[in-house]
Amino acid sequence: MKVLAILYNGFNAAVKEPRLLGTVENKINGLHHEDTSSLHRKVSSDKEGPNSDFEKHIVDAEVLITTPFHPGYLTRELIEKAKNLKLCVTAGVGSDHVDLNAAVDHKIQVLEVTGSNVVSVAEHVVMNILTLVRNFIPAHEMIERGDWQVSDVARNAFDLEGKVIGTIGAGRIGYRVLERLVPFDCKEHLYYDYAKLPVEREQAVKARKVDDIEDFVSQCDVVTVNAPLHEGTRGLINEKLLSKFKPGAWLVNTARGAICDADAVAAALKSGQLRGYAGDVWNVQPAPKDHPWRTMKNPLGGGNGMTPHYSGTTLDAQARYAAGTKAILENYFEGREQEPADIIVGVGAWATKSYGQR
Ligand code: NAI
Repeated sequence: MKVLAILYNGFNAAVKEPRLLGTVENKINGLHHEDTSSLHRKVSSDKEGPNSDFEKHIVDAEVLITTPFHPGYLTRELIEKAKNLKLCVTAGVGSDHVDLNAAVDHKIQVLEVTGSNVVSVAEHVVMNILTLVRNFIPAHEMIERGDWQVSDVARNAFDLEGKVIGTIGAGRIGYRVLERLVPFDCKEHLYYDYAKLPVEREQAVKARKVDDIEDFVSQCDVVTVNAPLHEGTRGLINEKLLSKFKPGAWLVNTARGAICDADAVAAALKSGQLRGYAGDVWNVQPAPKDHPWRTMKNPLGGGNGMTPHYSGTTLDAQARYAAGTKAILENYFEGREQEPADIIVGVGAWATKSYGQR
């Protein structure tokens, strides 16, 4: 039996910091399963093109483990070549790197470590919102340059208090973002999601559901994206929808880069239609050096809060998703039932309601 793991290289950092479990060097604890002497493990970061380790080893692997931070993109074409594949495990949350419809068709199960990094991401979202609204990054860069011109940064800095915040997706992360924003005394918390929250959960985070996406974005000063990537969210935030945003709104996306049209976001920031854009997810990962989101700016030269994809891979999160990956593998090898919440695709059927209404 072959287990293939596609992880990112940690290099020297992973040698010096053993808690960087999601790396090729430290191999996620789950790969140390003992009682399977016939297990052949292949761990690599090499994932692009027909000669990559990913494409060479997927053809006879039974289990694929990959992280959303450095995803092996498992297309329908590759699934059709992967004759032995039975289980894909996402070490983290978000399994859109697998063609999930093809996994259903080919009876390949897809599991993730549900909940493992939702607090990590929610904290990052709150940080991104504050960073943009308060114009923090240009202010810090000014200090590093040796300058001191308060008016240049204060002219685009605001309070979060009194603003309207909206989340696209009010699941585990979106809800936790609203929970964490309660003490900021925002004017309103809105959410756009086909799944309605129970009234007491709405009241606990002062949330109001808005059913029409254009109506929703037109009311928000800050929009945060917390829905999975699927057919219903790919390219959702495009030129047309951006034109319905409040002029000068802030947009934070830590869900998946491809939910936003990259060029349309860069153009909206350049024109000032968006005052800021922040997040850690990109439509291609690693992002090419010339990706417009690396350097895009608003008309005042700020408004860019982009980082590499790391909000859900803090050392605390890595401990949790490594333990969760190990548990999923042990359940699989020992024929035990999996945690229902971890199952995205069961054998031949969708098991989650989070990837669109079907
Ligand atoms: P969840 O499954 O708890 O919640 C997702 C919510 O989105 C659900 O309430 C669902 O109904 C809603 N939704 C789905 N399609 C929608 C649509 N078209 N419009 C509005 N709402 C929609 O998932 P969780 O744990 O909150 O994670 C959400 C996503 O965040 C993941 O799928 C992943 O893509 C991303 N993520 C990013 C991380 C990072 O490191 N940047 C780490 C963890 C997750």
